[in-house]
Amino acid sequence: MREITNNLVEEKDDEFEVTLRPKKFADFVGQNSIKENLNISIAAHKKRGDVLDHILLYGPPGLGKTTLANIIALEVGSSIKITSGPAIERAGDLASILTNLTEGEILFIDEIHRLNRIVEEVLYSAMEDYALDIMIGKGPGAKSIRIDLPKFTIIGATTRAGLLSAPLRDRFGLTHRLDYYEPEEISHIVKRSSNILNVKIKTDALEELSKRARRTPRIANRLLKRVRDYAEVKGDGTIGFEDVLKAMDLLAVDKLGLDKTDRNILTAIIEKFGGGPVGLNTLAASTSEEKDTIEEVYEPFLMQIGFLERTSRGRKATTAAYQHLNLPNSGQNKLL
Ligand SMILES: Nc1ncnc2c1ncn2[C@@H]1O[C@H](COP(=O)(O)OP(=O)(O)OP(=O)(O)O)[C@@H](O)[C@H]1O
Ligand SMILES: [Mg+2]
Repeated sequence: MREITNNLVEEKDDEFEVTLRPKKFADFVGQNSIKENLNISIAAHKKRGDVLDHILLYGPPGLGKTTLANIIALEVGSSIKITSGPAIERAGDLASILTNLTEGEILFIDEIHRLNRIVEEVLYSAMEDYALDIMIGKGPGAKSIRIDLPKFTIIGATTRAGLLSAPLRDRFGLTHRLDYYEPEEISHIVKRSSNILNVKIKTDALEELSKRARRTPRIANRLLKRVRDYAEVKGDGTIGFEDVLKAMDLLAVDKLGLDKTDRNILTAIIEKFGGGPVGLNTLAASTSEEKDTIEEVYEPFLMQIGFLERTSRGRKATTAAYQHLNLPNSGQNKLL
């Protein structure tokens, strides 16, 4: 028998993220309409005393899905168990997780789009009926038994909502899409983090760092950490404008927050494929990046800033991308 605990993944984030992760709504910057909606759902749930609806959170990496799931649990006053799509390999794994939940408990399933189909089917019927129908044995002697489950809430998180099957998606009473943050919100987050880390940052330095954070809290915090290291080693410990510029140069993060990989992807589209359209597989092969990484991590932001377009025939670089990279765009869309 495998232990259920094998399937409950440890927090994968480093200690740094854990310290900076907001614990309650009041500290969670931005995403105002999501917070408002969740607050109403939670208040209504408390008033009625019933079970909280299943919640699906989706959006690009680092925008706060895991953070929100933990905050929801705290605000509801329930405990939360954490697992992830790839960790639940078999229907039996899911059954042991679900039967071990207590009434009203929250099960957070990260990367829920990576559940296999069989597990997914068991999950969505369990979400609806709070019961499991399990086949015991094989062949003619096999029989189906029904196990009643405690009333639980699933919070699912995914960067790829499109990969969820329709029946699974439909079982979530609440679906919230996290968006990229506004620049002021990112500054607010960096300010909050620098206070927690007890490091001083000048206003112009704060602004510059925030501009380069790809509108993403996780990246903002990472950059802050790097710049803090730089200022401690090279300067007097207070983060100034120059520290930000120099640290960003060392990291090869440009004015818009693009890193080497972003630039490689765009340059490949432009120089190797005449600006596109180029298929994702070809692009992945020519940049030596994983297809999924391009699709989940890099593309969303490049599209967000209008540097990349997704068409039915593949990916295309936009005029803005040519300009940013200082590349002549005479070759745009020419056939190779
Ligand atoms: N709204 C916010 N306010 C302040 N800090 C935030 C906010 N959202 C996220 N963060 C910070 O960013 C970090 C990353 O957020 P989180 O782990 O919740 O992202 P995620 O959406 O779950 O990403 P992934 O898709 O990679 O799992 C957190 O540790 C936290 O410090
Ligand atoms: Mg997460």
